[in-house]
Order: sequence, then structure tokens, then C-alpha cells
Amino acid sequence: MSSVTTSNTSAAPKGLDGVVVASTAISHVFGNEGRLVYRGYDIGQLAGKTTFEEVCFLLWKGHLPNQVELDALRATMSAQRALPDAVLATIRAMPASADPMDNLRTGASAIGAALPISGTATFEQALALAARFPTIVAAFDRLRKGKEPVAPRADLGHAANYLYMLTGEIPPENHVKSLDTYLVLLADHSMNASTFTARVIASTESDICSAIVGGIGALKGPLHGGAPALVMDMLDAIGTADNIKPWIDQALDGHHKLMGFGHRVYKTTDPRAEILREMARQSSTPEFFALAHGTEEYALAELHRRKSDQKLYTNVEFYSAAVLSSVGLDRDLFPSTFAISRVAGWTAHVLEQMVGNRLIRPQSEYVGPLGLTFAPVSERA
Ligand code: COA
Repeated sequence: MSSVTTSNTSAAPKGLDGVVVASTAISHVFGNEGRLVYRGYDIGQLAGKTTFEEVCFLLWKGHLPNQVELDALRATMSAQRALPDAVLATIRAMPASADPMDNLRTGASAIGAALPISGTATFEQALALAARFPTIVAAFDRLRKGKEPVAPRADLGHAANYLYMLTGEIPPENHVKSLDTYLVLLADHSMNASTFTARVIASTESDICSAIVGGIGALKGPLHGGAPALVMDMLDAIGTADNIKPWIDQALDGHHKLMGFGHRVYKTTDPRAEILREMARQSSTPEFFALAHGTEEYALAELHRRKSDQKLYTNVEFYSAAVLSSVGLDRDLFPSTFAISRVAGWTAHVLEQMVGNRLIRPQSEYVGPLGLTFAPVSERA
């Protein structure tokens, strides 16, 4: 038997850290500068000034829409919000205890089968998926609470209609503004894990719905989109200002990660976190904001003291939790709400991948044994 290969000199860095896997004109993270750019616009140019629908158009088409283009996009999206009967039946069959991300993953997959979505990815398919994501999430949330789903309202914008379908009531303007800004901020983020997943699936020439369903699966993990609910759990566990120091010290002494801190690319504060911090300051109760901000300040001081080489800062998820809570969302809906935004980016990346597509098929470094001799089962020890 040949010896086991242990050298990893030819292997890519663990977690593909620093490896460039695609060229994209959709978005870019300047990690050292703390900048996020969508199609040439710094995120601060867009947040609070554009609606989610405008950003969808920007990501899909490459430029901000004029009024005629925006009106057409809004009309087409709002006309496609209702779910096919088969999709609603699938959601009704879901146990009330299901994770909302499992519901979204299943509901999105059912849309692919019901519409159906097949063949080479198109802008119309991207729009058909993005339009229906809030309806899948809201229908399940209503059903699990013993209520009937609320039909979408074509006269409301994407953010307002999502909140309306959750509660059955027209949401307050400040909630709509907060949620719309959140949806703009989270819509794309260069080659994050879920976007990479979607592009890998698209590169096999599978359909856009399959690519997006894969993206939902990748987003669900706590190292990606699953963090904000855990931020709320952390703040609940801390509870009061005088418990911040002992709680954080104990977590870090135990080598636990603090949710809402650290990032693979940002080596300074995530610009989205800065915007969300100010939104949270406006929209949360003073007591809650004081607890969150106090936790952030102490956590950063300790992370910098203990891990000075790592450049750990607040990431987008820390204040996402506060903002999404302030608009009335249950914390287990946070990842699905992230997906309602990110489907814009995923679909844009799938469309981009299909231009001059080549199968994404990297290699691995084999570290197992070689040259073993087969023995029938009767002769094995
Ligand atoms: N709390 C405490 N330590 C952290 C940390 C955190 N949130 N994030 C990273 N670190 C530390 C690690 O313990 C490790 O330290 P070590 O070298 O002493 O062992 C070092 O920083 C590198 O961490 P690593 O997990 O390898 O970095 P990464 O680039 O692979 O991971 C994240 C990036 C986002 C996955 C990571 O920072 C994390 O898990 N954060 C918490 C979850 C979160 O907020 N996710 C949302 C991301 S937007």
C-alpha cells in the first residue's frame, strides 16, 4: 500500500480564503476600506434612498431604472405575488413546528415545479421567484399560528406587502421604510457562500430555481444567514447592562464565537452594520438599544484585546436583529427575510453566470490511502 498523502502544499487555503472564483460586475466588498458597491454605487448611496424593487432592477439589469422601467417592474412583480395552488398546498402540508427556512426552501422548490421553471435562466424567471418569496414566508407564518394566509395586495410595495401578508394590516410607514432599507442593504454581497452555491449549481446548466434552492440551504447556516436570531438569543441571555462583561468574558474564555462579529472579507466595520446601527438607534426602545450597543462596545474591546491579529468587527447580522425585531418580525423569520432580499442577488449572479458559462468544477487534494487490495465480505475481519 502506498503511504497516505499528507502534504497540502498544492491545496487551496482552507475555506477558499482569498481565492477568486468568478468575475462579476454585480457587487464588490472592499474589505479593508469597509465599502460595499452594487453595480458602481456605494451602498450608502442607495440605502434609505431606493426601494428594494429599484435595487432588484439595478442588480438584474446593470443600471438604475427610470420611472417607466420602475413602474413596469413594480407592476409585473406585484402581479406575480400569488402562489400557485400546488405551492400553497405544499406549505399547508408543512408541520407548524417546521423551521421557516425549511418552509422557504421547500416552497421555492415547489414554485420551480408548479410554474414550471426550466431551461436557461431568464430575467422573467428571476422576477417570478423574487416576487413570490414574501408570500411563501408569510403564508407559512400565518398557517403555523392557526390563521389563514392573507392574499397579497398589488397596490403595496414589496416591503409593505410582506408586512401586510404577515399581519393582515397595513403596516406603519416607519416599519416599511426600515424593512425596505434592510432589503436594499442585504440584496447582494459578492461571492458569499450562498451566492457561490447558486453559481455552482447554475454552472451545471441546471435551472435558476434549483440554483436558488441551493442558495437558501447555504444561507440557513449560523455562520451565514442564521446569525441574527442567535444575536437576539445572546442579548436575551445577557439581559442587563451589568451582565455584559461577565457574559462576554465567559463566552470568550470558553472559546465560543460571539454572533454578529467577524467577517471573512471585512477587516473593518461592515458599512451595512453602521447604517443598521443608526436605524436600530431610531427604531428600538432606548433600553434595548443601550443593551445592544453596550454589548457591541465591550465585545469589540475584548475581541481586539484577545485576538488583536484577527481584525474582528461588528458584522451586518448584529443590528439586523434589532431592526427586524423593531418591525415586528418573529426572530425565527430573520433568515427567511434575509433570503427575501438576497434572492435578488442570487438570481442576478445566476443570470451573469450563464453568460459565457463554464462548468465550475474545482479539484481536491486526496489525502486517503492508495493501493488497497479487495477482499470479499466473507474474508474481511
Ligand atoms: N467571536 C469570537 N471569535 C471570533 C469570531 C467571533 N464572532 N469570529 C472569528 N473569531 C476568531 C476565531 O475564533 C478564530 O480565532 P483563532 O484563530 O484564535 O482560533 C479567528 O477569529 C478566525 O475565525 P474563523 O472562523 O476562521 O474566521 P472565518 O473568516 O472563517 O469566519 C465568520 C468568518 C463570519 C464565519 C466568523 O467570524 C463567525 O463565525 N462569526 C460569528 C457568526 C456570524 O456573526 N455570522 C454572520 C456572518 S455575516
